[in-house]
Amino acid sequence: MDKHVLEPFIKKEDIAVKVKELGEKITRDFKGEKVLLVGVLKGAWMFLSDLSKNIDLDVEISFISVSSYVGEKTTTSGVVRLMCDIDRPLEGKNLILVEDIVDTGLTLNYLKKLLSVRKPKSISICTLLDKPSRRVAPINPDYSAFEIPDEFVVGYGLDFNNRYRNLPEIYKLIISEDN
Ligand code: IMP
Ligand code: MG
Repeated sequence: MDKHVLEPFIKKEDIAVKVKELGEKITRDFKGEKVLLVGVLKGAWMFLSDLSKNIDLDVEISFISVSSYVGEKTTTSGVVRLMCDIDRPLEGKNLILVEDIVDTGLTLNYLKKLLSVRKPKSISICTLLDKPSRRVAPINPDYSAFEIPDEFVVGYGLDFNNRYRNLPEIYKLIISEDN
């Protein structure tokens, strides 16, 4: 069994401040308009929940589920699969894709292509974390709470092998072999 060490990285107070700022910025940018927040499952659910409470607009909420990892890995397989589609029509809507983290950018690149065909009025990307040093696809988040270095992080929705999503703060995950 591998041993996991969780090193505190971003405190819940700091997350709350940034999420509030992002919500206020989205409120200003889309003043007088409706927005459709689409959370990318599963990682973005906690962020979307807090973000939506800080957006003072006419808001619709939906989710989309994709998968890009196979098994116990901390790097993407590069192959993105649609697991569960959005339940709302997108035509004419201001779509805001809400992600936990933009890493290689392959997931959002796939989603942008898939969803732009449905003729939304606009597509924006709002991410909690951004790891620009690992980018492969041409994705630039419109809204980002924290830019982070190339570290694997968990908590506040982010997982390793489906664990740690419920933690209220963000931690660096250090994996060591136990022998
Ligand atoms: P991308 O397609 O490489 O941009 O990866 C996006 C997805 O990979 C995110 O939505 C996460 O689910 C996952 N991911 C990337 N980096 C991390 C990390 O540090 N911790 C947990 N999940 C991650
Ligand atoms: Mg994700």
